[in-house]
Amino acid sequence: MCGIVGYTGSKEAAPILMEGLETLAYRGYDSAGVAVWDGEKIEMKKEKGQLANLKSILEREPVHGTSGIGHTRWATHGEPSYINSHPHGDTKKQLVLVHNGIIENYLKLKNMLVEKGCVFVSDTDTEVVAQLIGDLYRGDPLTAISDAMRLLEGSFALAILFRDDPYRIYCVCKDSPMVVGYGRDGAHIASDIPAMLAYTRDVTFMGDKQIAVLSPEGIAFYNEFAAPIDKGSTHIDWDLDAAKKGSYEHFMMKEICEEPVAFRKTAEQYVNFRRGCLKADCFPWADSDAEDVKRIRIIGCGTAYHAGLLGKKYFSELARIPVEADIASEFRYADYEFEPGEILFIISQSGETADSIAAMRMAKQAGVRTIAVCNVIGSTIAREADDVLFTYAGPEIAVAATKSYLTQAAVLFLAALRLGEIRGRVAPDRVSAFLTELAEIPARMQKLIDEREAIQFFSSREFSAKHVFFIGRGIDNALSMEAALKLKEVSYIHSEAYAAGELKHGTIALIEEGTLVVGLITQKHLAAKTASNLEEVRVRGAKVLAVTNGEMPDIADHCQKVWTIPETGELLAPFCAIIPMQLFAYYMAVQKGCSVDKPRNLAKSVTVE
Ligand code: AGP
Repeated sequence: MCGIVGYTGSKEAAPILMEGLETLAYRGYDSAGVAVWDGEKIEMKKEKGQLANLKSILEREPVHGTSGIGHTRWATHGEPSYINSHPHGDTKKQLVLVHNGIIENYLKLKNMLVEKGCVFVSDTDTEVVAQLIGDLYRGDPLTAISDAMRLLEGSFALAILFRDDPYRIYCVCKDSPMVVGYGRDGAHIASDIPAMLAYTRDVTFMGDKQIAVLSPEGIAFYNEFAAPIDKGSTHIDWDLDAAKKGSYEHFMMKEICEEPVAFRKTAEQYVNFRRGCLKADCFPWADSDAEDVKRIRIIGCGTAYHAGLLGKKYFSELARIPVEADIASEFRYADYEFEPGEILFIISQSGETADSIAAMRMAKQAGVRTIAVCNVIGSTIAREADDVLFTYAGPEIAVAATKSYLTQAAVLFLAALRLGEIRGRVAPDRVSAFLTELAEIPARMQKLIDEREAIQFFSSREFSAKHVFFIGRGIDNALSMEAALKLKEVSYIHSEAYAAGELKHGTIALIEEGTLVVGLITQKHLAAKTASNLEEVRVRGAKVLAVTNGEMPDIADHCQKVWTIPETGELLAPFCAIIPMQLFAYYMAVQKGCSVDKPRNLAKSVTVE
């Protein structure tokens, strides 16, 4: 969602702010703006649309100064427009600020402030915050922020520049992420780590209701009552180039190509391949408490939820435990009563997804043990969950999740395998067989990536499709859901996943001459069943593409095209089969000329409900 940057130090602020905003552009935005203290006044520039628009304004009318804040806005309250773009200020022109989040009681506050004489110029909830802090300001920024915080309901990350104290930047957060760091030339704020990496790798994650005051000399932290507190920093060892596109045309393709390495790196954290065993101390179960796990619930949003669906298969098959997977935004309001011995898994790449955080907090409040599968060290979910199983995907910049899905599924597989091992549900030789095959997966993935031209060719003929159905059974149904999401989000082609056997209970009515149906057949024991379902759509005019696990000669009769993944055990097959599906979505989007890395209306990190 919105991106925030801020800088105060010895360098020109505007180029640093713009560079930070470019790095955060992947989060999704529809307008952008900066405010810089020019030595006499706070100079503001903002514009609707792409960052390039703001950039050309700054080229025509440069702003000079060494402290400032910047913002990319993803509209929530008020349409994307110049007026609604951040920064926003107060009527008395004492401050300007940028905001990420949603102020839930903004109407009540706005009415109160209008009665006090504040004149509003935008439709945003953010301007209410600026006016509120301005109204409470009596010469001490910290007190005004702390007082305002008590009146605000909802979520916010704010960076504030006060006219009376222009070389300090004040920032404060509640339920919305923000990192701060001190580099060689000054202090920086950003909504996300990649925008900090060029300046420092030692970052501090802001906690709820904490205030940071950045100055050219350093950063001071305060609690919600404006009393000083100490906060440590976290070292981030992500490679700076990992957050850059390099020679790739799109981050999505770069990230698909990184999957073999991301998979291997993640697996190596949990598996000792040399000894052929799982690293027992990397999992959150001791031999003694494994039997206490009575039920597992997995939650996540979008792709993370789809990884959770694979996790559901893994835990029930390998650990023989009752498992449910739920969409976090539904689960948080489900009025669900946890059972004794139940564990909640929270799957999230960013660790900042609002619904997943809320569901996790609900479980924690009920005394339920929470285990996160997360990619970002120091993120809210990683900090608050009882245990974290990290994925080692590196920064994922494209809005479409690719390597995060794969690594989440890998971690869930290994966690299920470990639980199955210590509960005695998976025999030691079966564990070793899994690990032996797991070590071969990156090479199989690489082969699929190397042979991607066939997928590009197919896409060049099919990109005008209006509807695509992905069908499969069991694990392939879970995989189909991710394949369909990938295609729709990047290519804007309507696509649906359907349990293959369920089609004829209604949905088959949609099949007409030329409808593209993709049948995923990685589960050999279900292949004949899915083949019958492919035949049902083929005879009704569908164009059928099958993705098979190794050669399956019998399938060819039921489809026009077959893509084959290297033969892989059924539980591990999704790690290979997802790659052609991601590549297919990518090439369809490229053919259609879509904005692959930043699809319309989408944001990378969904930090509001
Ligand atoms: C999928 O490609 C999307 N980026 C989206 O569905 C994403 O997986 C979802 O918003 C959850 O994000 P998270 O993993 O950061 O929690």
